[in-house]
Amino acid sequence: MAKKVRVHHFAEKKQAGEPIVMLTAYDAMTAKIFDDAGVDSILVGDSYGTTMLGYLSTIPVEMSDMCRATAAVARGAQRPFIIADMPLGASEVSDAQAVENAIALLKAGAEAVKVEGGVARAHTIRALVDAGINVCGHVGYTPQSINALGGPRVQGRGDGGYEKLRADALAVQEAGAFAVVFEMVPEPLAEKITAELTIPTIGIGAGNVCDGQVLVWTDMAGMTDWQPSFVKRFGEIGEALRSATETYCAEVRSRAFPDPDHTFDK
Ligand code: KIV
Repeated sequence: MAKKVRVHHFAEKKQAGEPIVMLTAYDAMTAKIFDDAGVDSILVGDSYGTTMLGYLSTIPVEMSDMCRATAAVARGAQRPFIIADMPLGASEVSDAQAVENAIALLKAGAEAVKVEGGVARAHTIRALVDAGINVCGHVGYTPQSINALGGPRVQGRGDGGYEKLRADALAVQEAGAFAVVFEMVPEPLAEKITAELTIPTIGIGAGNVCDGQVLVWTDMAGMTDWQPSFVKRFGEIGEALRSATETYCAEVRSRAFPDPDHTFDK
């Protein structure tokens, strides 16, 4: 097995100019495929809610959902560094609540947690780091704030947009995060802030200038009819699954399956 990815490899990769490869996963089977394919890190994102659980946003996702998904991913993947999202409501009440919930995710198999928000969440990140927990930040568009942000929108534009984004990213770094996700950020802004930060930036819809990239796996693999404009479809797994299922339906109905090769005859 290739060498296990650990938290210090994020900083080493930034220094070496080596892009960090991250994908989301929510179950053991998919996590094993991503491990075999060589991803550096798996994010058990709360996009679990919008992908696997059928919610319209990540807002309804609970700690119990995240713990179940994180444990499954940790059973499936050995080499990638596993980061689990703190869902909405897991850290807003108090820093003590945040530490308790982050520990539950570590017990489920996460090696770090991700917290959405910048300046306003710096105290939470600091409390987690002080408790010995690895934290990945998340700035720019933060899906848990979909209502406050008025929908999924590019962040950092307009008067004071760059200054806010920069302040958020610096606050996350100063609070002790080992990396920060930049979501839906104009590339020139992501480039400037990435150059200023000492911790790696992981982009999603932030251009080709971040220290790494993350995508929601169902978007990248073509499981959905629609995906955000910044996502490239690297495969057509949804179509392959639909086609296999259609063939299965037809063969069961025509009694072509099970055939003698797939039957116990004794
Ligand atoms: O939940 C998630 O998948 C995420 C990514 C979009 C970064 O937070």
